[in-house]
Amino acid sequence: MTTPTLRPLRWTDWGFARRLAADPVTRAMSEDPTFPTTLGHLRWMARHVAHATAWVAIGDRQASWFRFNRLGLAQVKQDARQRLWLGVTVAPEWRGCQLAQPLIEAATQQAFAQWPLEPTLWARIKFANEASIKAFSNAGYVGSKLDSEGYWVLVRTRNRKAAA
Ligand SMILES: CC(C)(COP(=O)(O)OP(=O)(O)OC[C@H]1O[C@@H](n2cnc3c(N)ncnc32)[C@H](O)[C@@H]1OP(=O)(O)O)[C@@H](O)C(=O)NCCC(=O)NCCS
Repeated sequence: MTTPTLRPLRWTDWGFARRLAADPVTRAMSEDPTFPTTLGHLRWMARHVAHATAWVAIGDRQASWFRFNRLGLAQVKQDARQRLWLGVTVAPEWRGCQLAQPLIEAATQQAFAQWPLEPTLWARIKFANEASIKAFSNAGYVGSKLDSEGYWVLVRTRNRKAAA
């Protein structure tokens, strides 16, 4: 198993990010099921590249062919109440390899480092997204409430440790 390390999203990740956005599983589990237009994707990339709020997970070379060295993507979105929401995507060819929890853990640490005054991180996950719920729970996110649209709302505090 390879351990993901994060680096900020770059314009050269355009094709990778677009491929993940087009993936049917990603779309089905996303808050917005419609496939983003090129302009929408451009805006999404521009925002995250400018603010360094999305990161690409990179695997070690021994464990992955160069072409498939990008394992996934994590991003943070701030809402009107200044809460930080974490979302992750594991690249389709890497799913089922137990990468989701280490990716969430790495992105959580990255987000807490980038927002040093923020005590909590949030995640909003579709009821049917079992793999994501398990991975976020294993990474120390807790919550037992479904919101009015049928999403689990999980929260992780800065001091909470991930499951061993
Ligand atoms: C959700 C997602 C990140 C999970 O990544 P993954 O590589 O498939 O998951 P992992 O191999 O790391 O497994 C995570 C856990 O889910 C379980 N799992 C994996 N696939 C599963 C499935 N289809 N159904 C139920 N559980 C599943 C694993 O057994 C593991 O649980 P465990 O640690 O208790 O054994 C990935 O499927 C994905 O990118 N989906 C599209 C985008 C998305 O849904 N993002 C999350 C919203 S924030």
